[in-house]
Amino acid sequence: MIEFPKNARGFNQPMRFEADVYDCEVVGRIPSDFTGAYVRVGPEFYFPQKFEDDGPVDGDGYINMFRFKNGRVDYKSRWVKTHRWENDRRAHRQLYGKYRNPFTDDPSIREETIAKPYLRTSANTHTLAHAGKLFALKEDSLPWEMNPHTLDTIGPWDFHGKYDSQTFSAHNKIDPLTGELLAYGYEATGLCSPDLWVYIMDRAGHITRHWKLQVPEVAMIHDMAATQKHFIFPFGPYVTSLDWLKAGNCHWAWDPSKPSWIGVLPRDGAAKDVRWFRGKGRAMVHILNAKTEGNIVTLYAAHVDGAFIPFIPYFKSVDGSPLKGTGALFRKYTIDLNSRADTYQEEILWNTPVQDIARIDTRYMTLPNRYGFSAFNDESKPFDEHRAGNLRGRVMNSYCRFDLESRHVSAYFAGDTHSLQESCFVPRKSGRSEGDGYLIGVANNFAEMRSELVIADARHLEDGDVARVILPFRSAGLHGLWVGDDEVNFG
Ligand SMILES: [Fe+2]
Repeated sequence: MIEFPKNARGFNQPMRFEADVYDCEVVGRIPSDFTGAYVRVGPEFYFPQKFEDDGPVDGDGYINMFRFKNGRVDYKSRWVKTHRWENDRRAHRQLYGKYRNPFTDDPSIREETIAKPYLRTSANTHTLAHAGKLFALKEDSLPWEMNPHTLDTIGPWDFHGKYDSQTFSAHNKIDPLTGELLAYGYEATGLCSPDLWVYIMDRAGHITRHWKLQVPEVAMIHDMAATQKHFIFPFGPYVTSLDWLKAGNCHWAWDPSKPSWIGVLPRDGAAKDVRWFRGKGRAMVHILNAKTEGNIVTLYAAHVDGAFIPFIPYFKSVDGSPLKGTGALFRKYTIDLNSRADTYQEEILWNTPVQDIARIDTRYMTLPNRYGFSAFNDESKPFDEHRAGNLRGRVMNSYCRFDLESRHVSAYFAGDTHSLQESCFVPRKSGRSEGDGYLIGVANNFAEMRSELVIADARHLEDGDVARVILPFRSAGLHGLWVGDDEVNFG
């Protein structure tokens, strides 16, 4: 019998169908230079979870795409048909246990998933476009290649047979100057292994450099940064061990007694040249960007103090103590490579909590940049509790453009019954300067229980959106990116 938990209703109602909506309803006018697709992936549950205290990030990969062409937009969504999705469909139930813990899987598959944990992936975290290919990613396996015309699943991709890590991060970076993919996988040789393997792929997806690092602590390395000179690997004390997994827990345990770490690897160096710097233990999940000036490495990110509790309370503390954490704030970390000390400096840039996933104009990835884009809740704006339900505490009603130099904020307000999912920057075709383009994202309209894609001029956020794409149902995604027609052929 299929029965979802009681909280899987309303906006949490599982999307158990695949959708095609051609010629979507549009309010306003789609910019004439919008040619490409906004492709997102996120967790959705086809079958109910095996354990109630597992997290929603353990859902099946569900990829969706707003395809823009000739001033029109089509919407398409498909399941990422991983081994896991196929096995569950055959069994007519959920075989897979807790988040990244094969020891909690159904006995019919457990022996294999313990030996090959990458077979458990749901490919539900982020998308990537490189070398003309489109991928769905989760940090526990290889990237899964998707057909950009149909969003059908092609299968795992190993970079022409040369990628030897078992895992590939969901957050990699593309060097805009060279088109190279700067990539890594952690727990590269198996469950709880201390191996962090780093790669550079050329424009055609061939591996040109390869480093094999070992981390000072086996922990969640969810995102990284890169500059023209360095790879940077920040992570907090979300730790794990085989004993922790065998005890039946989700993969990560929060250990407030341990520090955070930032690894710095020279792009022109060897694995032995990596340096590890330590600081106050906090969940370091997503990264904005970084720069290298002389021997000073500066890292920008929206990070919390303490654990990442709003999103993942099911990653418990190691000793059972209550989790503590704050909202994410824009921060600057400074690492002085001239110093022999193994510490770094940090500074809070803006005291208003923001969505921890912040974005930049990706033409400036690995380069010094000025603007960070994120979502936040502007308390000065109205909220219609009568029409939207009592959801105020969960609302991100505005997007912001935060100036990392002047600390000036400009903002876009989505509406009094809306909450915004993550933002994405779309460069204007004729523009070259940083931030010249559009900020897009999906807003959840709680009053009408459906989603809409908003498009705003990133230089004039206060002016509101220039267009909204109206969907007749909700649409969720954990992460996504804008892919131009010059990057991938969407047909
Ligand atoms: Fe992420």
